[in-house]
Amino acid sequence: MDLHEQKILILDFGSQYTQNIARKVRECQVYCEIHPCTWSLENIRQFAPKGIILSGGPASVLEREAPLLDRRVLELGVPVLGICYGMQILTHLLMGRVDPAPEREFGRAELMVKEFSHLFDGVRNKSTVWMSHGDRISRLPEGFRSTAFTDNSPIAAIEHPIHKLYGLQFHPEVVHTQEGLRILQNFIYKICNVRPEWKMESLVDFTIEQIRKQVGNGKVLCALSGGVDSSVVAVLLHKAIGERLTCIFIDNGVLRTGERQKVAETFREHFHINLIVVDAIDRFLDKLKDVVDPEQKRKIIGNTFIEVFEEEARRLGEHEFLAQGTLYPDVIESVSFKGGPSAVIKSHHNVGGLPEKMHLKLVEPLRELFKDEVRALGREMDVPDEVISRQPFPGPGLAIRVIGAVTKERLDILRLADKIILDEIKAAGLYKKIWQSFAVLLPVKTVGVMGDARTYENVIALRAVNSTDGMTADWVHLPYELLGRISNRIINEVQGVNRVCYDISSKPPGTIEWE
Ligand code: XMP
Repeated sequence: MDLHEQKILILDFGSQYTQNIARKVRECQVYCEIHPCTWSLENIRQFAPKGIILSGGPASVLEREAPLLDRRVLELGVPVLGICYGMQILTHLLMGRVDPAPEREFGRAELMVKEFSHLFDGVRNKSTVWMSHGDRISRLPEGFRSTAFTDNSPIAAIEHPIHKLYGLQFHPEVVHTQEGLRILQNFIYKICNVRPEWKMESLVDFTIEQIRKQVGNGKVLCALSGGVDSSVVAVLLHKAIGERLTCIFIDNGVLRTGERQKVAETFREHFHINLIVVDAIDRFLDKLKDVVDPEQKRKIIGNTFIEVFEEEARRLGEHEFLAQGTLYPDVIESVSFKGGPSAVIKSHHNVGGLPEKMHLKLVEPLRELFKDEVRALGREMDVPDEVISRQPFPGPGLAIRVIGAVTKERLDILRLADKIILDEIKAAGLYKKIWQSFAVLLPVKTVGVMGDARTYENVIALRAVNSTDGMTADWVHLPYELLGRISNRIINEVQGVNRVCYDISSKPPGTIEWE
């Protein structure tokens, strides 16, 4: 059976949440595609969706240049769910009335369901929803009824159950809407009659197909860091184009113990991927010599990375494409409706500046996915759990954890301490429960006593934080016994360290990294 037969079409009016809709539809185990709201009726007919979701958007239907929808889309007999701006479009096209609300409504609101609706099957009568709108519906289109309200929106949900047209003023795709998933499930399963049959496995196949289409017979380079995103990209590309993929792993001298060996082993031996490991340790460390400013360190590492990568690429010869693990949250969307609502998408490149400089075309197979979906994709392709569950590690590596000047000796001290911390955190079963846990080497020496002798040595700070996105973080309340064990082991086993401190600052005001 073709699992793509039962699909949902999302028409995009420029909302920052459009990808969240897609993600929720995938969570419902249903295939979906996002297309601009200007997609032609002909295209829509050919696509043959079982349901159509109209996204929100920044415009107002009251503006002259507001993006519209071909009214005939509403006459296809396909169920339609309009979200926020999508609901206002429905209303506007069907001769209802949309007016500016007395007050913009933004944030949480209490939704009260007042009428029976299949959309609200199994949904509590009162629940929290997420609102973000300036206009509201003041008169329903003919044949429609209103099924729910909030304090500020007397009409928060509308429907014409016979024509299968539905509208929601709030955003069911946003996590703050408690019953959001249930509402979307109701639309998809009960109103569109689509069954949950699509799986992550199908996403692997689909993505591979897309890569093949884009790349044709071309050759692709991939900068592999060993992190989750670049690893999943490498494995996907390898599945799609095999030998025509070459991965480059650059040892910049600021990696953790065993990292280079692990990457080589995983990708060469386990996946049989063409992998070039470049030893650029001296080059990086020479450039970092005596540099203490954190931003300077970042710049040097970023630029040197590009130089080394370019040299390797030149040595390898003709490659047209560069694969990158850009995720959806990295993609900053700005949508312009001037001259047609085509989306202008700027992306933040993980490997800053490479594609422009080298005239490479980008292959970004993860750019519509969220991190947990990338992990699921990786699991589906047997990427080892060690890679999938890896804590984030910054591009500038240990250079921003050796506070002050970076030298080989100081890096070695940090590496040993860091390994002890990770080993102990893993042994305590906490590694996967913690966002990041690591060592920082401080540029101060303190007095201690070992045996009968006075010591004057380095301090290691232990940092362990929890976070959902790295934007805010809280220090982890590690058990005292574990802290004690880590401290003892570091002081006993790492020469040159006589003191360990635990960083108990949250972000903000501290950052996760010390530099
Ligand atoms: P901060 O220190 O800003 O870190 O609280 C937030 C998250 O970002 C990581 N980080 C970086 N990652 N290049 C990266 O690729 C960098 O320059 C960089 N600086 C910080 C940090 O490890 C944490 O996960």
